[in-house]
Amino acid sequence: MFDNPEEIRNAAFNKPRFKNKGEKMTYFIGIDTSTTSSKALIIDEKGKVITVASAPHTLQTPKPLWSEQDPKEWWVAVSSSIKSALEKSGIKNDEVAAVGMTGQMHGLVLMDDDGNVLRPAILWNDQRTQSQCDEIHEIVGKEKFINITGNVALTGFTAPKILWVKENEPEIYAKGKHVLLPKDYIRYKLTNEYAMDKAGAAGTVLFDLKARDWSDEILSALDIPRAWMPKTFEGTEITGRVTEEAAALTGLKVGTPVVAGGGDQAAGAVGMGAVEPGVVSLTVGTSGVVFATTPSALIEPNGRLHAFCHANPGMWHFMGVMLSAAGSLQWYHDTLTPSMSFDEITKEAETVPAGSEGLQFLPYLSGERTPYPDPMARGAFIGLTLRHSRGHMTRAVLEGVAFGLKDSFTLIQNAGLGEITQVRASGGGTKSALWRKIFASVLNAELVTVNTTEGGAYGAALLAGVGAGAWKDTASACNECIKITGSTLPDAEQVAVYQKAYPIYQELYPILKSSFAKMGG
Ligand code: XUL
Repeated sequence: MFDNPEEIRNAAFNKPRFKNKGEKMTYFIGIDTSTTSSKALIIDEKGKVITVASAPHTLQTPKPLWSEQDPKEWWVAVSSSIKSALEKSGIKNDEVAAVGMTGQMHGLVLMDDDGNVLRPAILWNDQRTQSQCDEIHEIVGKEKFINITGNVALTGFTAPKILWVKENEPEIYAKGKHVLLPKDYIRYKLTNEYAMDKAGAAGTVLFDLKARDWSDEILSALDIPRAWMPKTFEGTEITGRVTEEAAALTGLKVGTPVVAGGGDQAAGAVGMGAVEPGVVSLTVGTSGVVFATTPSALIEPNGRLHAFCHANPGMWHFMGVMLSAAGSLQWYHDTLTPSMSFDEITKEAETVPAGSEGLQFLPYLSGERTPYPDPMARGAFIGLTLRHSRGHMTRAVLEGVAFGLKDSFTLIQNAGLGEITQVRASGGGTKSALWRKIFASVLNAELVTVNTTEGGAYGAALLAGVGAGAWKDTASACNECIKITGSTLPDAEQVAVYQKAYPIYQELYPILKSSFAKMGG
């Protein structure tokens, strides 16, 4: 094993440059197995997106709190997407220099000795494992667990899911031999190798964050066999090669290298160019994610931020996750203003002064993850008066989401990253100019947009390109391919208003926490 990040980076890059460069165009494929669909995206060696093809998956919720998928559906969706991307683009399979992987994180795929899947995959958004999380903290000790893995055990993560199978389906557990994540099941189908990227492996919380390898201490404390865990790789390393069987199904060439890639958040950060300390990314989709690269294995002492390995070799990252970001606005629109367009409601909100004249909105509509890992947390409007109009309520929703995301920024800054001056923003929520202005002013940072919109699949394709030697390293690939396309600066007057309103927002959840818990019955 390597002792320092520099050695890790050098080892990952120390491979021959791709020989055909300059002779003929070469292409890289990024594969993303998300919760709703699988996607294959082809880029050229300039980083230009040539084509994208995707196919949907179904999701099963056989019991309340459960969320499962059949891995076979992922493979059908991936193989057909690769085939159709190649066909649509007319690119020949010997022009594809490498494939990179990404996908939904944390899901448990348990397999037997012959590579058969033993039960449906238990996904990242499954909530059945609270008692296993408590058990993990009790067995290992919460502080020690945070110190080794960088995280608290959350229901979404993989380790409690393994314990759940052990306790509730012992006959299935007894046949277990391999633990994979969704993206790594696809890797197995492509290459016949059991392998995992380090970003995804850290998200199992069975990983020693500093050592960038499995934690024998945690595995043995939880009595999970070390032999079940696959070999892990840096994001740009080659993990295996396409087999004959996979080639026949996908149209790829036998022997095409498959590069590690990373979990969807880490690969998405590569796709946004957030690969070095100082560049923070903010994604405002249904959920909201704040992602900050760290040069060492920094940890938030109470585990309130996720701390995982980055897909950029030798780097780590913090991450804060808000469960209802643009999802809050969607709920508000669908429930209270269904006949108006999003443009109409945000125009109305623009006429209301910053701070919504004291009205606050708590965005915990689906519970929360950061900074309050609390499934019982609830949404609320607080501070309504006769003066408040619909425009105030809309603006309060936009501001409440921005305050909730600022909580993650504040934790990141306090955990050792210092001032954040530029934020790379993406996701549906950042399409609104008003919301961008609110984010910039609440965060008191410049918000920039970039020319790439394909997220994790694009990042995975860039990592494949680095693995094949098209770029010197991940940062060079990002610098060459990802350009800033727009900027929103904070407004000094609004900054002053939000600096007064944010501490009030921060007071509200702690006051309401126990009431929220009682409301759940
Ligand atoms: C990351 C996370 C989600 C899932 C699904 O921690 O839970 O991003 O990977 O996209």
